[in-house]
Amino acid sequence: MDSKNLFKKAAELIKSSQKTMVLTGAGISTESGIPDFRSPGTGLWENMDPTEVLSTKVLFNSPEEFYRVGFKILSSMRNAEPNEAHYILSEIEKEGIIAGVITQNIDNLHQKAGSKKVYEVHGNTREGSCLRCGEKVSFELLEEKVAKEELPPRCDRCGGMLRPDVVLFGDPMPHAFDLALKEVQESDLLIVIGSSLVVAPVNFLPGMVDRLIIINATETPYDYKADVVIREKASYALRNIWNLIKS
Ligand code: APR
Repeated sequence: MDSKNLFKKAAELIKSSQKTMVLTGAGISTESGIPDFRSPGTGLWENMDPTEVLSTKVLFNSPEEFYRVGFKILSSMRNAEPNEAHYILSEIEKEGIIAGVITQNIDNLHQKAGSKKVYEVHGNTREGSCLRCGEKVSFELLEEKVAKEELPPRCDRCGGMLRPDVVLFGDPMPHAFDLALKEVQESDLLIVIGSSLVVAPVNFLPGMVDRLIIINATETPYDYKADVVIREKASYALRNIWNLIKS
């Protein structure tokens, strides 16, 4: 089926759905200049193992290495701007056509684009916390301390080690995931945008809905289950689908 018909089918599913949630991954932010993790050739994990670099094992056992390598990757995701795909999702939410966005991304771009209901199931790069006393700090403070070679960065209040509030491999899932799970269980349609759907437990979500739309540049393990699979760039696909819904 050519893209035009796929866009039409997607628009029809969205218009006839009782409740639609969106699940996004790093692929929605590549058009903002942030590399994703697994795209062949450009993905961040091409030449490093994520479970080694952004894991609690490295954070707790070799914190200096964590702050020299993994933390820099987190920092690099913060200065981007939303792209058209983020803005369209925010507009579609304002029109009441989607109930919210569940994102694996930590780049804050959905909020910057005006999305209101955003479940950050892999945490965020706005804040950090002290492992000893739980004190909340800004991500900027972490960056300042790391820039001054205070490795690992220490809590000004109790001297405990500070960590970013990003979900690392080895971390338990945040409360946002429980809330996202509940939303999906109450939805009849999930639109996946820019995720390879290989990381659990977020990749359980597409298995929980009756209707599934996948907008992704490459194959995912859920393509067989999806009602519509669109192999286009996120912004191009969303622009076309949104125009069809509005017309
Ligand atoms: N439009 C559509 N799809 C795109 C685009 C684009 N412009 N750019 C990339 N993609 C697709 C890629 O083909 C890839 O399949 O987006 C997908 C991104 O997949 P990953 O890089 O695996 O990112 P993601 O699914 O978000 O990773 C999940 O893995 O490393 C952990 O915690 C990290 O949250 C991350 C999780």
